[in-house]
Amino acid sequence: MTPAGRPTAAERTLLARACDLALRARGHVSPNPAVGAVIARDGEVVGEGWHTGPGKPHAEPAAIAAAGAATRGATLVCTLEPCSHTGRTGPCTEAVIAAGIARVVVGTLDPLERTRGQGVKILTDAGIEVAIADGEDADHAREVASPFLTWAATGRPEVMLKMAASLDGRVATRTGNTRWISGPEARALVHRWRADMDAVGVGIGTADADDPSLTARDVDPAPVRRATRVVFDPHARLRLDSVLVQTARDIPVVVLAGSLAAPERVDALRAAGVDVEVGQADHGAAFLAEGLDALGRREIQSILVEGGPTVAGALLEAHLVDRLAWVVAPIVIGGDGAPAAVRGVGADQIADAARIPAPRVERLGDDVLLIGRLRPVPGGIA
Ligand SMILES: NC(=O)c1ccc[n+]([C@@H]2O[C@H](COP(=O)([O-])OP(=O)(O)OC[C@H]3O[C@@H](n4cnc5c(N)ncnc54)[C@H](OP(=O)(O)O)[C@@H]3O)[C@@H](O)[C@H]2O)c1
Repeated sequence: MTPAGRPTAAERTLLARACDLALRARGHVSPNPAVGAVIARDGEVVGEGWHTGPGKPHAEPAAIAAAGAATRGATLVCTLEPCSHTGRTGPCTEAVIAAGIARVVVGTLDPLERTRGQGVKILTDAGIEVAIADGEDADHAREVASPFLTWAATGRPEVMLKMAASLDGRVATRTGNTRWISGPEARALVHRWRADMDAVGVGIGTADADDPSLTARDVDPAPVRRATRVVFDPHARLRLDSVLVQTARDIPVVVLAGSLAAPERVDALRAAGVDVEVGQADHGAAFLAEGLDALGRREIQSILVEGGPTVAGALLEAHLVDRLAWVVAPIVIGGDGAPAAVRGVGADQIADAARIPAPRVERLGDDVLLIGRLRPVPGGIA
């Protein structure tokens, strides 16, 4: 028999299902976590639910409602510890107790120090058996709520850096031509990511060179919300006639500026509807960290940074990248003047290079995507 406190093999399968359900809400759930829940009785799934967004029912009550009378004596498997506080909705622990659930399997504990373990305690005190996942199962449960968990632990959004490079690691030709390095499948996936993130960012060099809109286009299902566009722009030099500024009143744009930004530039951007955050630092790692803090204060929990090479290098050197997504296209650009994907000082030794441990590798048309984490999701059981 499985010792008390650990999920059974069947419950581990249900937890994987709950993780899949949780992911359905990514892109419209923040500032809440993505959470999924499954209720099973006598080996049969009798209810499923996931949290669909702020103010909407949490995953557990949604699954309880779906299960109806079948909750009596059933097992609830949920990706995150049930909440014990009253926020925009009532405490989930109360709903679980009232539904007559006999056993609860928790994917990962609440990340907040002050509430961690409280949901489990309330359930245990009410006579409900509680099992907590560990190892790969707990990692999986944390992964689905990673933007929320990262933000809760650090006050900053989870940063996913995405670059597309040629086989020889270039992101443009020597003449500055960049369209297109990656193929349509990779570009479509980037639009999906944009739709799922709270923010999409670039450095001012890219904003200047490419005049991007940074919106999610041709995405099915259509995005529920529009990601905030962010420019890392120490001198607040984003052009007023850029697509970003021209559309700032419809879809938010945040310019992260530094202490050396000219006040008249800041004022002009603000007058055009841009939200300008002026930090204390003027450049480097401190500037980036401050900018991410400012985004965290706006409850931005995830950001897709699409380069360019200078900002990519600075973020990597500052250890501010949580996830790396690298598209490699089957082309060789060549030329001594063609820019590399990452600028900056770089690693002295290969052992010091940023490395994705066990990356996921995917074929996207003729391109190859390598994706993975540079840092674990915070919130593991110490
Ligand atoms: N293939 C791809 O995946 C890809 C992706 C993006 C861009 N690109 C290409 O890359 C080129 C632009 O490259 P880039 O390197 O100039 O652009 P970038 O990285 O987008 O922007 C560089 C600028 O960002 C500012 N910056 C913000 N934080 C910084 C920090 N911590 N350290 C240093 N600078 C910081 C600096 O502005 P100040 O000079 O005002 O200080 C710097 O000049 C374009 O040709 C673009 O098309 C390719």
